[in-house]
Amino acid sequence: MTTTSKQDRVLIFDTTLRDGEQSPGATMSHNEKLEIAAMLDEMGVDIIEAGFPIASEGDFEAVSDIAKASKNSVICGLARANFKDIDRCWEAVKHAAQPRIHTFIGTSPLHRDITALSMDAMADQIHETVSHARNLTDNVQWSPMDAIRTEHDYLCRVVEIAIKAGATTINIPDTVGYTIPRESADIIRMLLERVPGADEVIFATHCHNDLGMATANALAAVEAGARQIECTINGLGERAGNTALEEVVMALKVRHDVMPYDTGIDTTKIMGISRRVSQVSGFPVQFNKAIVGKNAFAHESGIHQDGMLKNKETFEIMRPQDVGLAGTSLPLGKHSGRAALRAKLEDMGYPMADNQLKDVFVRFKDLADRKKEVFDDDLIALLRDAGAADQNERIKVKFLRVICGTEAPQSADLTLEVDGVDKQVTCQGDGPVDATFKAIKSIFPTTARLQLYQVHAVTEGTDAQATVSVRLEEDGKIVTGQSSDTDTVVASAKAYVNAMNRLLVRREKSAPDSDVKTVKYTDAV
Ligand code: KIV
Ligand code: ZN
Repeated sequence: MTTTSKQDRVLIFDTTLRDGEQSPGATMSHNEKLEIAAMLDEMGVDIIEAGFPIASEGDFEAVSDIAKASKNSVICGLARANFKDIDRCWEAVKHAAQPRIHTFIGTSPLHRDITALSMDAMADQIHETVSHARNLTDNVQWSPMDAIRTEHDYLCRVVEIAIKAGATTINIPDTVGYTIPRESADIIRMLLERVPGADEVIFATHCHNDLGMATANALAAVEAGARQIECTINGLGERAGNTALEEVVMALKVRHDVMPYDTGIDTTKIMGISRRVSQVSGFPVQFNKAIVGKNAFAHESGIHQDGMLKNKETFEIMRPQDVGLAGTSLPLGKHSGRAALRAKLEDMGYPMADNQLKDVFVRFKDLADRKKEVFDDDLIALLRDAGAADQNERIKVKFLRVICGTEAPQSADLTLEVDGVDKQVTCQGDGPVDATFKAIKSIFPTTARLQLYQVHAVTEGTDAQATVSVRLEEDGKIVTGQSSDTDTVVASAKAYVNAMNRLLVRREKSAPDSDVKTVKYTDAV
């Protein structure tokens, strides 16, 4: 086996579908997970962590189906340190050409306290569970959760036990995003120096972003000898998220002069998958986000624009094309035909089958009738709504008329189709959006609490579409709905209904105590 520190190739382990999907409100449907996994596979991700099979039936099915469909990537599932989790994980990943079991336990004093395990008892448990996993497959990853806050001597001891029990990858998680680059590197270096057998395994780095240093910490770990980076698309993940795939991959590409490590990622696929993950997770990408933000290649000031016209390298350290953005973007209009739309979507990283194009074209024509120019971002919003409509939604907005203005009361006349039956109601409220939401709730009563209501314009101009995000919470389950329309109140109604439909799927998919968000990380053997 190639040893950790000699290998110049850094493996990319994507955990968008596991750690990323754990972000409150980022739940994806089965088909969406399969689609994202196929995109990850195609872009060259080495290992896809497809889910946490014991967490719910839905997670198990998703991991199994991704394992069956995978072409190139290793397919990995997560399991706590007990035989039941590990067996369930194996049942799901075993269909892959290259399966991996990833088992973990919290090793820091705080986590040992929760599990009420002594250092010795935990060490025994690690030996038993890793050996058990290794009897099922020769590709076993082990993680000491909260490694960064684990006593160094104990960390060395448990890593050695995991290696002896047969782990082939040792992941060092900064579970709470607490470390800094120097420490991240020192810990990897220490493990490589002190642990017998360390040069026979791959060390991985898994960094959370609570202090905004996840990418820097991951790269520091690589410089110290780690050869697997765990990351997610758009940095999705618990709390402030994880290392963003696009950031580490582009950093290694752009600064190859000082970090001479390669990844197998086709970077031209980055923008397409970033947009798709944003759509299916309902998490908009912040405008100034590195690499994939809307402004990442935009230049506003006169000095910058002047420099760009003379030599693009003055203010761009990578080309938009390197991450899959077409150089210039010409808007479409109502006279644009099917072929122009297809070419444009292909250019943006969304190749369409004929039947998909048919539906998107109808939506495009409808939008182009209401809006003079249809920009790339309008098309992206339109694709998201088309995707949502595909998902057999139980509730649909059929008709909405609001009365608003300076004279109260504002009211909404709404017809929803619920399970194929039209239901109509008129409600008053404190403004048109409040009246509309009250109307939805009066037709489809729910105890879900509105946690967030956010509107942003997709493009400029008074005819711009508004994208509305709505986040609902019910019994600890959080879902996000999104929709876009040139009419902000219509977009609000559709976003609320989209969130409701996601909540209904979540309700069906899992009982609260078997849900991925509520699985306790502390089960013993
Ligand atoms: O952050 C973390 O510690 C994790 C583990 C499950 C690897 O995600
Ligand atoms: Zn994590």
